[in-house]
Amino acid sequence: MPLLNVDELTVTFGGRGRKDVKAVNGVSFSVDEGQVVGLVGESGCGKSVTSLALMGLLPRKGVTLGGRADFDGSDLLSMSPRKMRDLRGSKLAMIFQDPLSSLNPVVPIGVQVTEILQRHRGMKGEAARKEAAHLLDRVGIPDPDRRLTEYPHQLSGGMRQRALIAMAVACAPRLLIADEPTTALDVTIQAQILELLKELVDQEGTALLMITHDLGVVAGLCDQVNVLYAGKVVESSGRRELFAHPTHPYTHGLLGSIPRLDAPRGEPLNPIRGSINDQIAWAEGCAFAPRCDRYEMGCLTGTPELTEPREAGHEARCVNPVLATTEVPA
Ligand SMILES: Nc1ncnc2c1ncn2[C@@H]1O[C@H](COP(=O)(O)OP(=O)(O)OP(=O)(O)O)[C@@H](O)[C@H]1O
Ligand SMILES: [Mg+2]
Repeated sequence: MPLLNVDELTVTFGGRGRKDVKAVNGVSFSVDEGQVVGLVGESGCGKSVTSLALMGLLPRKGVTLGGRADFDGSDLLSMSPRKMRDLRGSKLAMIFQDPLSSLNPVVPIGVQVTEILQRHRGMKGEAARKEAAHLLDRVGIPDPDRRLTEYPHQLSGGMRQRALIAMAVACAPRLLIADEPTTALDVTIQAQILELLKELVDQEGTALLMITHDLGVVAGLCDQVNVLYAGKVVESSGRRELFAHPTHPYTHGLLGSIPRLDAPRGEPLNPIRGSINDQIAWAEGCAFAPRCDRYEMGCLTGTPELTEPREAGHEARCVNPVLATTEVPA
């Protein structure tokens, strides 16, 4: 049994007088104990909505959820808000993209960390303060005793993200969901944060769901990768296999659009044409068809199924997959 098994998750935003938006359209994937799983795709493909649905953080009004998300034996989607609150911060934690808006600006860092320790680990007074300092130290924040008394605006961007990670790991969650945790940071800090997450996974056996649009992050961290397009998984495979043999034309395009240092000078970049707005409904055919170089008539006859055109365990949702071996560096 995987630790988290998401089965046909759908999220529809609607409401009176508004057109329904299916932001997540039947997403399935799983995360095993201690595994790092990537959810990759371009802006607007439904990554954050998926993670918010799993955490029970979408508004109740105007949002319809479908499918299941079994975590440690219970369905996250139908859980009572009270049970969900207990789970968040204990067995399930999340790191958000923007550290400044996820920390409370008027409460010192120390209070925010000890609050979690009090609520979820029953620690009190000096013991909680000591543990909070230990946690900040562990995520590489220098002079933790002083930092505990400071407010979020007194910390640098990288430090805030570290403080958030400290809060997320304060209760040794079994699953950590990280939604673009390094996007707002410069590259050196990015590398340090990724290293830190890797360490946590190795030492604590925490499972990590890594949400990103950055294939470099995927290459450095993930065991298993799910590529999302327009609210559906279009390719899913182990990391090495995915980078060596991208099979869905979208994945192929994503990897092909990364600038290569060994390319001859002046060689033009090779972006995927169009934007995520140029899509058709999945019910009519492949949503990527209008942008796809491998488009053929069969692409418009209903939703393509996930199949394993290349090898077992490597799934792609495409009627005309890329099967030739390509050299794309990891
Ligand atoms: N509250 C909402 N009401 C209506 N539509 C929404 C709402 N939140 C998100 N959406 C829509 O859902 C789709 C998916 O959004 P989501 O935030 O999951 O994208 P994302 O993959 O996380 O993108 P990014 O990489 O930019 O963070 C988008 O088309 C977005 O406009
Ligand atoms: Mg997002």
